[in-house]
Amino acid sequence: MLIDTHAHLYSEEFDPDRNEMIERSIRNGITKMILPNIDEDSVNGMLCLSDQYPNNCFPMIGIHPTSVTTAYKSQITQVEKWLSKRKFTGIGEIGIDLYWDKTYQKEQEDAFRIQLKIAKSEKLPVVIHVRDSFTEVFRIVDEEQNGQLKGVFHCFSGDAIDARKVFGLGFHIGIGGVVTFKNTNLREVLKETGLEYVVLETDAPYLAPVPYRGKRNESSYLTLIAARVSEATGLSEEEVARITTENAERLFGI
Ligand code: NI
Repeated sequence: MLIDTHAHLYSEEFDPDRNEMIERSIRNGITKMILPNIDEDSVNGMLCLSDQYPNNCFPMIGIHPTSVTTAYKSQITQVEKWLSKRKFTGIGEIGIDLYWDKTYQKEQEDAFRIQLKIAKSEKLPVVIHVRDSFTEVFRIVDEEQNGQLKGVFHCFSGDAIDARKVFGLGFHIGIGGVVTFKNTNLREVLKETGLEYVVLETDAPYLAPVPYRGKRNESSYLTLIAARVSEATGLSEEEVARITTENAERLFGI
């Protein structure tokens, strides 16, 4: 059994075959899938799917950094409204993305910080999107960490030094399809750090692992990611599944 800790299964890429795709994933042993929200437009599809598969699909709530606008305060008010209405598995995905656009850097940083504070008051884990922003994200999490914050640096892409910084903050790293790519240092990083603070994820429909690189990703491909992690660490696939599943269950309370 494996847990996909990051999958946008409500995306329109899955409109033609969403139910078959989810059932295929469950048959392949990926029995739990955590759904990160993007913004106000993705909430309804995400919640429909969670209601349809209450034992398999677990929703999070939050505003993705690339969706943050100057109206971020009212965007976050909506997040708080949702939190008062139903149960969510975490706050996500949130973070800072300076790769596409730096226009709203100030707003992104403030929105990120406010959502970290919400996570603390709700006692929920956070899932953090970091792109060209490790320094900024690290500084803000460090400032907000009062011993209560926990979560995942999703789609981790740093080196072993960065990984240790993440662990030092009390956080986990999320490992996905990139670990199967030819040009990546992630396998060396995992060999060095082990799996004590690692969870697995697909980021479906994006970042499909080899041999599906460039195609649509789905949760059932998590087995390909786990196999590569097993090779990199020298642990059996059963051990990889056991350790990463326990980490995800403990972290997200599922
Ligand atoms: Ni994502």
